[in-house]
Amino acid sequence: MADMNAMSATQFPGFAELDAALADLRQGKLVAIPTETVYGLAADASNPDAVKQIFSLKGRPADHPVIVHIAGAEQLPDWASQVPDAAWQLAEAFWPGPLTLILPKPPRVTSLVTGGQETVGIRAPAHPLTHELLRQFGGGLAAPSANRFGHISPTTAEHVRGEFGHDCPRVLDGGACHVGVESTIVSLIGDTPKLLRPGGIPREAIEDLLGQTLEHHQSSKTAQIRASGLLDSHYAPRTPLWAGSLEQVHLAALQENQQGHKVALIALGSSNHLPEVLHTQCLPAEPEAYARLLYATLRSLDGQGFDTLLLQMPPDHPAWLAVRDRLTRAAHRHL
Ligand code: TXA
Ligand code: MG
Repeated sequence: MADMNAMSATQFPGFAELDAALADLRQGKLVAIPTETVYGLAADASNPDAVKQIFSLKGRPADHPVIVHIAGAEQLPDWASQVPDAAWQLAEAFWPGPLTLILPKPPRVTSLVTGGQETVGIRAPAHPLTHELLRQFGGGLAAPSANRFGHISPTTAEHVRGEFGHDCPRVLDGGACHVGVESTIVSLIGDTPKLLRPGGIPREAIEDLLGQTLEHHQSSKTAQIRASGLLDSHYAPRTPLWAGSLEQVHLAALQENQQGHKVALIALGSSNHLPEVLHTQCLPAEPEAYARLLYATLRSLDGQGFDTLLLQMPPDHPAWLAVRDRLTRAAHRHL
């Protein structure tokens, strides 16, 4: 994150379109924006008609709330009716950065943004170009990930264009996303803080700061909270994705191959020991580097006409929490 904060907005190709993007947003149009996690599909959060366009372009059900993006913690009172100490502490420690806080919604915030709920998700993204956009915009930008509902989140400007084709709004090109998986979502509603979605900020870092463990809601079935990132099926390629141990995916790959199916294997680390007949793509055995490449890899393999993608699941270790969460939801079948 440090490298990204040190970069300047002017270094990105989208900087040339910053003024045009601001004008679009002020006119109620959508703009796709880079963040350090994934690209977002942004609209002026205070303009109901603009926010509605997000839902129609994404094909997102109206009861799924979107996150409000702001320049920094000083804007928290504009978007939350109460800001508890824990929120100030977390914002101070992790903003701008990949952390979303769920706080009580003030009446003036449209319920279109919150999917009809009485709470609102707020985050200050770290990408220098979007930080500058937000600073000049002054208000909040409602922005879900810039993909069709349920599909893989985009981590480059090109992915966003591929996702929406002719319907694509202006895309501010901020290069490839540095984190690669979405923000960590922490709810500060109620007596104990809750982890609604693991993400770019490690759970342990938040727990250390708050001096409290986070309750973790792992599934939409138990969470009772309408958060699309919590749906059991999400972040998915269109090609069937099967996940399992190396032995399981290897065996499945050989069986599928024998039946004449075209399969790709996504392995962890080196693939020296895998048969050369299989199309194998290796992802780094280190969680942050893996996260950065994951969605681009799935998206690219999705476009290559495979019958099945077989993915070796990373180890069940806290450092892999966010990646394993996304893979669990992206997979159509667990071997
Ligand atoms: O990293 C990110 O968070 C990216 C970038 C663009 O900021 N955004 C993102 O947005 O992942 P989206 O809409 O794809 O996922 C946001 C998640 C959804 O699961 C949504 O339901 C949840 O945040 N969310 C938003 N407001 C909420 C609320 N009031 N209560 C519970 N969940 C909420
Ligand atoms: Mg999303």
